[in-house]
Amino acid sequence: MAPVATNDTAQEHVSTGPVKKVAEKLFNPFYSPTNGADGEDGDYKYAKYKPFFPNVKWEPLKEFPVTDRAHNADPEKKSLLSAASKVTHLTPAIGTELLGIDLRELSDSQKDELALLVAERGVVFFRDQEISIHEQLELARHFGPLHKHATTPIPREPGLEEVHVVYTDGSRRPDPSAFSKIDLWHSDVSYELQPPSTTSLKLITGPPYGGDTLWSSGYALYSSFSPGFQKYLEGLYAVHSAVAQADGARAAGQTVRREPVESVHPVVRVHPVTGYKAVYVNPGFTRRIVGLPKAESDAILQLLFHQIADNPDFQVRFRWEPNSIAFWDNRIVTHSATFDFFPHVRHALRATPHGERPTSVEDFERASGRAAKDWQKDLWEKQGIATDAPAPRAGPRGYND
Ligand code: SIN
Repeated sequence: MAPVATNDTAQEHVSTGPVKKVAEKLFNPFYSPTNGADGEDGDYKYAKYKPFFPNVKWEPLKEFPVTDRAHNADPEKKSLLSAASKVTHLTPAIGTELLGIDLRELSDSQKDELALLVAERGVVFFRDQEISIHEQLELARHFGPLHKHATTPIPREPGLEEVHVVYTDGSRRPDPSAFSKIDLWHSDVSYELQPPSTTSLKLITGPPYGGDTLWSSGYALYSSFSPGFQKYLEGLYAVHSAVAQADGARAAGQTVRREPVESVHPVVRVHPVTGYKAVYVNPGFTRRIVGLPKAESDAILQLLFHQIADNPDFQVRFRWEPNSIAFWDNRIVTHSATFDFFPHVRHALRATPHGERPTSVEDFERASGRAAKDWQKDLWEKQGIATDAPAPRAGPRGYND
């Protein structure tokens, strides 16, 4: 489990030499976000969207019905794709960039097609978007009721409680002793009973370079395993926990607005529209697999976490510019921001619609009467490519360079 933050106080580092005082405050950016009060506002254009932690208490979330808008979409997504001046698939497994579209002008059918494209490609990017945060929330509401985060900051401007503020500036330096890079990989608030679906993040201020975000495909991860291991994973359930995040917030002196929850979700969930199976665990919030000996649970989770974080075949990396916006389907991808841009400001605003309660393969097939699919096999079958495993080869294998 990731260590809880060491933020808010200047740290003294023990060394073999004299104790050295570090000038900047150090923090774990995952569990204790910056409060944004340390830096000067000056004439900062987006000071009204800087982090604010309201001292309020919210009721626990209840289960509610959600229907995926992508069910309504034209499978070929003609009205969305024909409106784009350029469509670029960034890797075979994940990530598409659309140019020439103004998100403020999408029709309802184009919004439905965007939800489907995001469900198929994992994450979809746009640049040069003037969409305001109010318009971004309105668009997100098309995809589902909006989530309010229990601990992370909202903007100072009143009326924006559904916004999750991402903010880091030069007053704090990410503390590499407080977290590992693997721990930063997560699927947003996966501990909720109904974790998010088509989530959007718009960068409003960014560093000249650095601060990229990476996404990793849960479809591709599932497809990469042998049939026996796939079947084994399909029968497992895992605990996702908000406790460490709440502890981090409390340690930083912030109010926990809703008491932390833990939910049990299937390790392989099925996307309700594409019918593809995705591995649904993440280092940030998944703690253990239910009913397994601890050694087995730890070993399986470590394998899955390392594949998410280490396997570039499943990943796409996005270089942000101000007014870039990413839409990702939190049900089928895991993501991680990089914190390599100190001391620059990185400021972004997220809108997070709730999805359905995660559905196991067995439940999906029983309820829908459809067979859940392996993403890679399905794609190759559509392209007429053989999907059986390659025959074993004799002799040495590997790269020569
Ligand atoms: C998030 O986890 O939603 C934010 C990702 C980022 O800062 O790039």
